[in-house]
Order: sequence, then structure tokens, then C-alpha cells
Amino acid sequence: MKKQVFVFLIIAAVLSSNLASGQDGNSVTDLILKSYSSRNYSSENVSDQDLSLILRCGMRAPSSRNGQPWKFTVVRDTALTKPVIKDIKQGNVLIFISGPEGQQENHVVDFDCGLAAENMNIAAQSLGLGARIYGGPVRAVNSTMREQLQIPAGYSVVTILRIGHLDNSVDAVSAASSRKNFEDIVNFR
Ligand SMILES: Cc1cc2nc3c(=O)[nH]c(=O)nc-3n(C[C@H](O)[C@H](O)[C@H](O)COP(=O)(O)O)c2cc1C
Repeated sequence: MKKQVFVFLIIAAVLSSNLASGQDGNSVTDLILKSYSSRNYSSENVSDQDLSLILRCGMRAPSSRNGQPWKFTVVRDTALTKPVIKDIKQGNVLIFISGPEGQQENHVVDFDCGLAAENMNIAAQSLGLGARIYGGPVRAVNSTMREQLQIPAGYSVVTILRIGHLDNSVDAVSAASSRKNFEDIVNFR
């Protein structure tokens, strides 16, 4: 094989493996590629400063027609959070992300709220905190806890974000879930 062809093949292989592996990233892409949904938290308090920054990142999310349909209900009190997530720790925060009820295009509201949740999820992890999105408890929360949690009138919870300090005794690499293969997901035309 000619030397130039060999060099070309090596470069092509490196470029395509970079596409698939996400190498050559920056701090944001590196963070996203390492992100995971933590289950293991310590009892250390999430600071008001971190919380405020995370909430502002949620508010910054894009939304359909810039409708910003979300409300964020922030709860620290374990008397209220424990019935929602059994293994919640003192110091964890739950953010209940709600959207207006009875909209014709409810799926758009859900989508917008999901984007706000993910902005906050990534923001929390960028601050060295753990985070996990929860959909499982939403139905029960909406049917039995809306008043207690003071979800705004006319709104229902779309999703819940848990934020807390990580329990560093747990190996985050093994805690992370795998993803499907790049080739099975992405189709270049
Ligand atoms: C919309 C949505 C709902 C979720 N609901 C739950 C839930 O009810 N309980 C739970 O333990 N994890 C929940 N998760 C977390 C996912 O299980 C987790 O993100 C997924 O398994 C991938 O794991 P990783 O983020 O650690 O890679 C939810 C995530 C999303 C995006």
C-alpha cells in the first residue's frame, strides 16, 4: 500500500472514531459525556448559591415560542420529600417542575419542562453535585401531594429533579449506565 493511502486511512479512522467516541471535546461536551444519574448521595446541604445558579440555568432553557411555561417548586423538607423518594437524604433538594394544565398542546409543555429539567441536571453536575430526574412518582404527587407541596394552582408536575452532594464512597464510573452504539442510533445521509 502506498504511504499516502496508508496515512489517509489512518486519519479517516481517527476522525470517524472521534465522531463516535466524542473525543476532542471541551469542558461542556466532556461533562455531558461523563454525566450520569446519581442514586447515591451524602447528607451535606446543597448551598443556596448553587441552587440559585441551577434554577437560573433551568429558566434559561429553550421553549416552544419562548413560552417558558414552567414553574419550579423547590423543596428541602424531608417530611415532604421522603414520601416522594424513599431514600432521600437530609440536604438533598427536590425541584418539582410543573406546567399549566389543560393546554391544547400538552406535549409541548412536557417537552419544554423536560428541557428545563435537563438544563438543571447538567448544571448541577457541572457544580460537582449529583442529580437524577424522576418520572415515576409524578402521578402520585399530582393526585395526592399538590396542595402540601404548594404546586401553583392550575399547574401539574411534569417531572422531578433530585439534587444532592454525591456519596463519594460510591464509584461513579461503575454507577453510570451504558448507552446504545453510535452506529445503531446515528444515521448519516
Ligand atoms: C423522564 C425521565 C424519567 C425518569 N424517571 C426515573 C424514575 O422514576 N426513577 C429513577 O430511579 N430514575 C428515573 N430516571 C433516571 C433514568 O433511569 C436514568 O437517567 C437512565 O437510566 C440513564 O442512566 P444514567 O443517566 O445514569 O446514564 C428518569 C429519567 C428520565 C429522563
